[in-house]
Amino acid sequence: MIKKMKIVVPPLKIQGIKTKLIPMIKQSILWNDSKIWIEPFLGSGSVLFNMQPQNAIVSDTNKHIINVYKGIQDNSINSSNVRTFLESEGAKLEVSNGEYYYDVRERFNLHGDPLDFIFLNRSCFNGMMRFNKKGDFNVPFCRKPERFQKALITRICNQIQLVSDIMQNKNWTFKVADWKDTVSNASHNDFIYLDPPYIGLHADYYNTWDENDAFELLKTMNNTSAGYALSMWKSNDFRSNYYLKHWNGIEFTTDHFYHVGASLNNRKSVIESLIVSEQYARINLESTNELDIQELDDTENTNMPIAKQLSLF
Ligand SMILES: C[S@@+](CC[C@H](N)C(=O)[O-])C[C@H]1O[C@@H](n2cnc3c(N)ncnc32)[C@H](O)[C@@H]1O
Repeated sequence: MIKKMKIVVPPLKIQGIKTKLIPMIKQSILWNDSKIWIEPFLGSGSVLFNMQPQNAIVSDTNKHIINVYKGIQDNSINSSNVRTFLESEGAKLEVSNGEYYYDVRERFNLHGDPLDFIFLNRSCFNGMMRFNKKGDFNVPFCRKPERFQKALITRICNQIQLVSDIMQNKNWTFKVADWKDTVSNASHNDFIYLDPPYIGLHADYYNTWDENDAFELLKTMNNTSAGYALSMWKSNDFRSNYYLKHWNGIEFTTDHFYHVGASLNNRKSVIESLIVSEQYARINLESTNELDIQELDDTENTNMPIAKQLSLF
């Protein structure tokens, strides 16, 4: 029987976003919603919005991400005020031939308004989230002055509405916090989904992430009574991630292609891994043919990789 899987696409973009890996994550984790979902590296929230746990504590050191989602939760940010904002600011962007992007960026770096953050996040180069050492957003413009066309504004507003609908009647706490604070009290009643910055692959986050952080995370998870899953790159054409072999659990892997630069021919492949603590790993995976995968409210679609191998660590 063909099962439908609808993928929720979040309103924020970030490098390392897991939208394309949601089928693999949903398939591989045995989740019956009886525990508290803890997600200390929230990023765009794509995993949270797709798992949709009833109870969750989620955090990120990037206060701008958390401000946006807290704003959606208390309805101070909603599809209506985002539409009004993007229509007026988008018109100024077009008239200025793109220069206005830099005015908004300067204003955001002075005041940190979440609506400005959404504007920048959806019009910057490649949907990147990058800040300098002072904490200032420093990504250049995507070079499309007519960026905020009606269709894109509608898509962003639909994404905000969908996330807001999902949050209704859920016990979700959004916090600005370092991962250590968020996982420090985790117990056997909790499940922790971990998606830290990738050492050596992406270094452009709000905080830096180095080998010491990676090993401290490993040590903490080796001592926790909570269940967990870790997303991590496993290998690319040139190298393998040696750090992975220290983790305990069942490993699921999948090929993932991404584009480098503008050329459609320039496809790079990376093998992505998901390591799930043993009692939470689903051993009987559906085959690709049994899944009909659709992204909600986005133009990108189809051909999502799903988990295809498992191995016991
Ligand atoms: C790979 S991204 C998470 C992507 C997310 N799973 C998604 O699908 O969008 C890693 C996130 O970790 C956050 N981060 C970096 N260092 C951190 C730290 N020490 N504690 C908590 N969060 C941190 C970054 O701000 C970034 O949002």
